[in-house]
Amino acid sequence: MVELEDLPSVGEKTAEKLRDAGFADMMRLATATPKELSVKAEIGEGVAEKVIEAARKAENIDFETAFDVLERRKEVGHISVGSKGFNDLIAGGIETQAITEVFGEFGSGKSQISHELAVTVQLPVEQGGLGGECVFIDTENTFRPERVEQIANGFELDVQEVLQKIHVARAFNSSHQILMVDKINELIQSGTNVKLVIVDSLMAHFRAEYVGRESLAVRQQKLNQHLHSLQQIANTYNVAVFITNQVQAKPDSFFGSPTKAIGGHVLGHASTYRIWLKKGLAGKRIARLVDSPHLPEGECVFKITNDGIVD
Ligand code: GTP
Ligand code: MG
Repeated sequence: MVELEDLPSVGEKTAEKLRDAGFADMMRLATATPKELSVKAEIGEGVAEKVIEAARKAENIDFETAFDVLERRKEVGHISVGSKGFNDLIAGGIETQAITEVFGEFGSGKSQISHELAVTVQLPVEQGGLGGECVFIDTENTFRPERVEQIANGFELDVQEVLQKIHVARAFNSSHQILMVDKINELIQSGTNVKLVIVDSLMAHFRAEYVGRESLAVRQQKLNQHLHSLQQIANTYNVAVFITNQVQAKPDSFFGSPTKAIGGHVLGHASTYRIWLKKGLAGKRIARLVDSPHLPEGECVFKITNDGIVD
């Protein structure tokens, strides 16, 4: 283990500043940008650059071969959504080292799937989980522990224990939401085995706070920064990131879907998997995989029950 003080450009004082700002971990440092580090740790950008460079050396971050990439991909874990059809659609469940986005109209099941995953991530690997804990960033005040209880009971789990392993953060506005991601870094560095980060919903605050064309560029810049931090957590700690998103009407569409996800290209490019949820007849829901780097497009039907998501 390399300590901060071992880095050539870091003295006692700088080390303390870095720790206070949540950069205790070499990998976290190595993946920071000089600007980010200098602002958060209150050190000069020149120093920040040197520290990052040193951390990268310590972590051996350089070119890697395709073989290394494949080895890293082997670490990818999957979290069951509860329905076999749904899991098959996304090759075994929500992936770690990736951002998975679901979008759909109100009541389509985005928050229900979020609650389900908060429980299933805790299951052992044989049962579709990762034996890990969950961070739930709740922006719409729709997180319900009672719902978690129901789902945990469905899996015959110890309800108390399940609730203890879900770390809920109520985000009051978009800057608070962005700040919460730094807290996740701290939580993980302090030894909590976080395997899933849920943001339900990603865009609610951004959408409400940045109104009008003139503020769109700023909104997208903040959103980009937020998504970047989430992706960084996913990669650094082999964590799955699950975000929910709203839709807007597309009045000019003659063909295809009459709605589309909000967030624009910034979000479109950041999500590794995008899943569109639709309401079907008799309480059924349809999930459609619309974007993925290596899986075919496809659909499945699932249902929301008292016990959670089922086929
Ligand atoms: P918005 O956040 O409003 O955009 O919608 P959403 O996509 O998050 O919807 P959500 O996941 O909250 O789905 C709500 C639907 O789930 C309800 O209309 C119910 O059909 C279903 N649902 C929620 N709780 C239960 C439950 O305890 N039992 C059953 N059987 N269904 C439930
Ligand atoms: Mg919801």
